Amino acid sequence: MTNLTITRPDDWHLHLRDGEQMRAVLPHTAKQFARAIVMPNLRPPIVSVDQALAYRQRILAALPVALGSRFKPLMTLYLTDNTPVAEIIRAKESGVVHAVKLYPAGATTNSDAGVTDIIKCNAVLEAMEAQDLPLLVHGEVTDSDVDVFDREKVFIDRVLSPLTQRFPRLRIVFEHVTTHEAVQFVDESSHPIAATITAHHLLLNRNAIFQGGIRPHHYCLPVLKREIHRLALLNAATSGSPKFFLGTDSAPHSLSSKENACGCAGIFTAHAAIEFYAVAFEQAGALDRLESFASFHGADFYRLPRNQETITLQKKQWIVPQYFEFAGERLIPLYAGENLAWRMVL
Ligand code: NCD
Ligand code: ZN
Repeated sequence: MTNLTITRPDDWHLHLRDGEQMRAVLPHTAKQFARAIVMPNLRPPIVSVDQALAYRQRILAALPVALGSRFKPLMTLYLTDNTPVAEIIRAKESGVVHAVKLYPAGATTNSDAGVTDIIKCNAVLEAMEAQDLPLLVHGEVTDSDVDVFDREKVFIDRVLSPLTQRFPRLRIVFEHVTTHEAVQFVDESSHPIAATITAHHLLLNRNAIFQGGIRPHHYCLPVLKREIHRLALLNAATSGSPKFFLGTDSAPHSLSSKENACGCAGIFTAHAAIEFYAVAFEQAGALDRLESFASFHGADFYRLPRNQETITLQKKQWIVPQYFEFAGERLIPLYAGENLAWRMVL
């Protein structure tokens, strides 16, 4: 097969940043995806509906004219220990806030204002359950005594599993799952829970972080895992199960903040997001399942209409640029300077 036409996909987990950085990365996403769930971990974080509305306006204003009427940012709120119940009601009424994101405090980039103990959010979670507003979770514990490769697995036992028992109707997205334990939990759960899977976790295992030296551009959170976990993710993504859908977690950081003695976590994939997924699905012999994973399952979970238009991918090698301009700095994309076998042509 040399051409593959699918319904235009959506990105259910995306970091757009703000200001000049946002203007640099937004066109990459808008040219491929119809909609994206925009993460709220700005500095300061998006904790109120008013902030989300203002951020949404900045995104809309930054869209290239040709894409302006087509791309829709779907906003989220950043959950804190002090999120008021009233903000949940407002979020639901707004029609533009589609979910609330739980970052355990200290788990990842800009998560200092995150939740210190989920018990503090009981009333808010009750309200979300009642309002049917989904909770998106960064599923890692932050305890320094838990091995960094085990933080997702431990989160399931300590936080996620009890949460599903306490709030049986709360819709949950387990974001960027990275382990076979997470896949298994989502697969076997009778709870209304789904998971996003990134392209980089489908393509790379943890060897990529240490390939011939330390590779900061392969460092993200949750950190890449062993090959057995990558295979479990690939299996889930290509299974046809509606519980798994596309979320790039494309997370741009400048070259200087990545190539640094204390480098930031995040991999930028928006420049070729759907192509990366096509490569992974082709490897698994499952290109026929790409459309439902990329374009149907997420929309169905969020109870939004499926997109009507299509995009076309062509099997045609091209070389990914070495870098992109990023607000006066450089942004190193995944596969910088390397061959990529698929390319979106329409
Ligand atoms: C994300 C970022 O840079 O905002 N980084 C990452 O490694 N994925 C935050 C996140 O989603 O954890
Ligand atoms: Zn993320």
